Amino acid sequence: LSRRRLLGGGAAVLGVAGIGAAGVGTGLGYAATREPEPTGGRTVAFHGVHQAGIDTEPQAFAAFVALDLRPGLDRRALVGIMKVWAEDGRRLAGGSPALGDTEPELALDPARLTVTVGFGPAVFDVAGLAAQRPEWLRPLPAFSIDRLEERWSGGDLLLQVCADDPVTVSHATRTLSKSVRSLATVRWTQRGFRNAVGTKPTGTTMRNLMGQVDGTVNPAAGSTDFDRQVWNPGTPAWLAGGTSLVLRRIRMELDTWDELDRPARELAVGRDLAAGAPLTGSRERDDPDFAATDVHGIPVIPPESHVARARPRNANEQFLRRGYNYDDPDGAGLLFAAYQADVDAQFVPVQQRLAEHDALNPWITPVGSAVFAVPPGFGPGGYPGDTLFE
Ligand code: HEM
Repeated sequence: LSRRRLLGGGAAVLGVAGIGAAGVGTGLGYAATREPEPTGGRTVAFHGVHQAGIDTEPQAFAAFVALDLRPGLDRRALVGIMKVWAEDGRRLAGGSPALGDTEPELALDPARLTVTVGFGPAVFDVAGLAAQRPEWLRPLPAFSIDRLEERWSGGDLLLQVCADDPVTVSHATRTLSKSVRSLATVRWTQRGFRNAVGTKPTGTTMRNLMGQVDGTVNPAAGSTDFDRQVWNPGTPAWLAGGTSLVLRRIRMELDTWDELDRPARELAVGRDLAAGAPLTGSRERDDPDFAATDVHGIPVIPPESHVARARPRNANEQFLRRGYNYDDPDGAGLLFAAYQADVDAQFVPVQQRLAEHDALNPWITPVGSAVFAVPPGFGPGGYPGDTLFE
């Protein structure tokens, strides 16, 4: 590759080199390597039986925004908020500016934007529908490991905004919260990330900031396991096709985690770091063998390891984990997001067992916690919660 060609080829050649791929190592492959197609135009269907953003292949970036309803609102005001979010969410997910969008150009790259709406406990009182509140919709029981802070906990409404571009997430988050400002105020915003699009093949399990492959044991979207674990069967009736979200902000104590050597780290989780394979296997998807022992009769996967403790003890104790990393001034960790048909039956027993004992506990601290009911999807003309409010 001559100097002249490099200069002459100008932006194209340098642009490709910046993306990496085959060319960098060989020094010869530049011209053959094409810049990938921009992914900003990709969309996820906004309408459907379920809200998008749950069985959606996780996007690279997320913002979870909790809002509090202003005092004195009624059901009509709530429906008003939902209709605004339905209309603006549909527009933004399709790559069009929201109504009255102040930065319409920022809406033009949806980058697989999804907007998912959830209800905190107060919604049902404000709407005069307390009898319709799912029994599990309340703060989780207090766990011994919790060091919860108000600033990351609770909330009357939730907006989960996910996209493959952080500018899209930022714009959608601001637009949706701004448009209901006279009725609800932002209580907290938690932003998270996974790998950028293109860094890894689609479908690669994410890594958390402790370096672990995180999310291996999860139901596959569209499977009967997923349908049973995640989508509410209709208890209460209005929630059929909806789900629940438990969002836990879990700080990682990375400075003390650094003191552990690799084998100790792997024993704490029960999986290896390189592939995320169970300590009794070699590939990520190998089934763990919790009965296997070494020559001294000691279990290969420690019974107190995270996966041994988290493993379901019955078919109920399963749910979808779709978390995001965070790295903020208050620390780094995991925005642990679990979705299940019933929080009490599925999530709480697992969290309780982990709180009692989990080899990871010295290095993970829950600092925020919130629970939301996620209404089912809706069609054009519908809105989040129309099955509840009408
Ligand atoms: C599995 C990390 C918090 C429930 C795993 C795995 C890792 C991991 C590396 C193994 C790979 C996989 O299947 O995903 C972490 C970290 C946490 C955390 C770093 C906190 C920062 C939690 C919490 C819960 C939970 C709060 C639930 C209350 C599970 C479950 C599995 C799992 C159910 C799958 C267990 C199995 O059946 O093999 N976690 N986790 N985790 N974790 Fe966590």
